[in-house]
Amino acid sequence: MSDSPDVALSPIDEKRFGIRTARSPLVTFDTLPSIIDFCHQNQVIFLIARCPTTDLKAVHEMEKNGFNLMDTLVYYERNLLKKGVPEDPGETLVRLSTPDEDAAVQVVAEEALHGYFGHYHADPRLDPTLCDQAYVDWAVRSVASRQIADDVLVAEISGKIAGFATLRLNNANEGEGVLFAVAPWAQRRGIYNSFIIKGMEWCLSKGASSMVVSTQITNIAVQKVWVRLGFELNRAYYTFHKWFDTP
Ligand SMILES: CC(C)(COP(=O)(O)OP(=O)(O)OC[C@H]1O[C@@H](n2cnc3c(N)ncnc32)[C@H](O)[C@@H]1OP(=O)(O)O)[C@@H](O)C(=O)NCCC(=O)NCCS
Repeated sequence: MSDSPDVALSPIDEKRFGIRTARSPLVTFDTLPSIIDFCHQNQVIFLIARCPTTDLKAVHEMEKNGFNLMDTLVYYERNLLKKGVPEDPGETLVRLSTPDEDAAVQVVAEEALHGYFGHYHADPRLDPTLCDQAYVDWAVRSVASRQIADDVLVAEISGKIAGFATLRLNNANEGEGVLFAVAPWAQRRGIYNSFIIKGMEWCLSKGASSMVVSTQITNIAVQKVWVRLGFELNRAYYTFHKWFDTP
């Protein structure tokens, strides 16, 4: 059976964890049976499945089928035209990265995202070191490839990269702040706040009228920043993992 919009094999996860993996970005009650069939037909061992928090019928069906909840993702949106972008009160230099800064971004990602509380780390069956690597690879690929991020911002303190923010234009109207991290030694001095303000400016410069961001519901620090800057909760998803090699 070939991949469908509802489910696809995930070669990148398979390579990282050494386990045949599939991803389903939008499970619904109606599509769940065909997603499970796809996994059986393709010898999938590990399925990462996301469903809207509004579809409780799908949640209950997944629970019946041995899916385990790993995280809850919240999406916030900011209309950039209704209200202007505030001045950045930060004192740290924030600028576009250059392609040769991937090694510096890697160091920040390794320090800041170690043990990050996303769905990978929540699963006791996955090696935490490999879970860390998933975020680090994503950050490094974002700097190197315009297919993953359209631009990456970096914060610089005394010539050293202190944080990064990856940005993507989803369509003509919407920009997205995708992955952010600030090195532990540079945290709590407003760099993340600056990244979000500069991200809003970036979206406007690309012609977008709104910016979206997402995180685990447990990530209070970033949601505090978003709410203060006028972002509003827009939608949420549960991430489930299903292991097909356990009864
Ligand atoms: C979350 C993170 C980006 C914040 O970066 P930062 O530059 O330290 O953030 P800021 O200095 O702009 O602070 C933002 C607010 O969050 C608070 N905050 C920062 N880190 C916090 C923490 N670990 N716990 C609770 N609050 C925190 C700050 O105190 C500030 O709130 P305040 O004004 O009430 O004091 C950084 O801690 C990090 O890289 N964490 C790991 C990766 C991560 O969570 N990335 C975001 C994924 S969406």
